[in-house]
Amino acid sequence: MSSPVLSGPVAPKRIGPPLWLLAELTYRCPLQCPYCSNPIEFAQIKDELDTEQWLQVLRQGRKLGAAQLGLSGGEPLLRQDLEDLAGEARSLGYYSNLITSGMGLSRERVAALKTAGLDHIQLSFQDSDKELNDQIAGSHKAFDKKLAMAQVVKEFDYPMVINFVLHRHNIDHIESILELCVQIGANYVELANVQYYGWGLHNRASLMPSKEQLRHAEEVTQRYRKQYQQKMQLIFVVPDYYETRPKGCMNGWGSLFLTVAPDGLALPCHSARDLPIAFPNVKDTPLKDIWYGSDGFNQYRGDAWMAEPCRSCPEKGDDFGGCRCQAYHLTGSADNADPVCDKSSHHHLIQSAVAQAQSHNDVRPLLFRNVKNSRQMAES
Ligand code: FES
Repeated sequence: MSSPVLSGPVAPKRIGPPLWLLAELTYRCPLQCPYCSNPIEFAQIKDELDTEQWLQVLRQGRKLGAAQLGLSGGEPLLRQDLEDLAGEARSLGYYSNLITSGMGLSRERVAALKTAGLDHIQLSFQDSDKELNDQIAGSHKAFDKKLAMAQVVKEFDYPMVINFVLHRHNIDHIESILELCVQIGANYVELANVQYYGWGLHNRASLMPSKEQLRHAEEVTQRYRKQYQQKMQLIFVVPDYYETRPKGCMNGWGSLFLTVAPDGLALPCHSARDLPIAFPNVKDTPLKDIWYGSDGFNQYRGDAWMAEPCRSCPEKGDDFGGCRCQAYHLTGSADNADPVCDKSSHHHLIQSAVAQAQSHNDVRPLLFRNVKNSRQMAES
């Protein structure tokens, strides 16, 4: 990519502040989930920001107006400065959220993060069944570790926030997944169907559930919702391939969300580094200039960029034309409408992926997210 071009100051009053700052601290991860949304070529991406550079990002982000801070990865616990960053987030007044697999967590680290002022921990599981959990995670220690860490997180009085990523191989376990959540004492459970980006997109044919699987999972979730409404909040995120209108991705490009990747690349969403856009880097551009003045962040703001069918669509204010990354990956151009929309001339691409999932006849093995596969994919 060539270096980014700044298009000069855009009147800040026309663009709101980035309320949500996502700090992807590292692409390193001890697990190998085949639906990871990190870029396929993550192993090629070096030069993680150091502690001082992350502290600057946090300070600049807060000054810009960011109120929520997500600390994610990869596995953010691999950063030994995580407690320092959480402490700075607290003193700056962020509401901070650690998004973790639990690998690398310990009683000592939870205690240190609590002391530093971390507000919230979201712990992910791969399945309720140890064998499948560990197979998907690519680690035979993962399930037991997660269970143990869930107890510790609870002991330290954090709300118990669990995330399960659902796909063809585990969605039929929905009942035992929810039972496990009850057993753990979860307060919030996100049942998030795989979103098809990064490794998830590569493995889409082997991951997408059928309509029947999805309907069953939603029915069971609804039953548990009624039964545990006072105790456990359930959020079921459907795969947008089964919709006929796209999601208002990121609440609109460059509207609320600002992601900083491990190497300092600033992005309007976690997947945008795949787009043929020269995004700026926090190592050489202040966050304020990036947010208000960079071509990359301004490219899909508003609706002037839209072509038909979005341009004249009465719903464009709700969905903003859908997801730019999905449009790019599936149609070859991020300028197109998200093909999830049934008004898009590319909607057949979604329909054929769904038809393939219905038939369940794709037996391609899952490609696991690890350094070896990342390097091989980058070379091929
Ligand atoms: Fe990038 Fe939707 S994930 S715009």
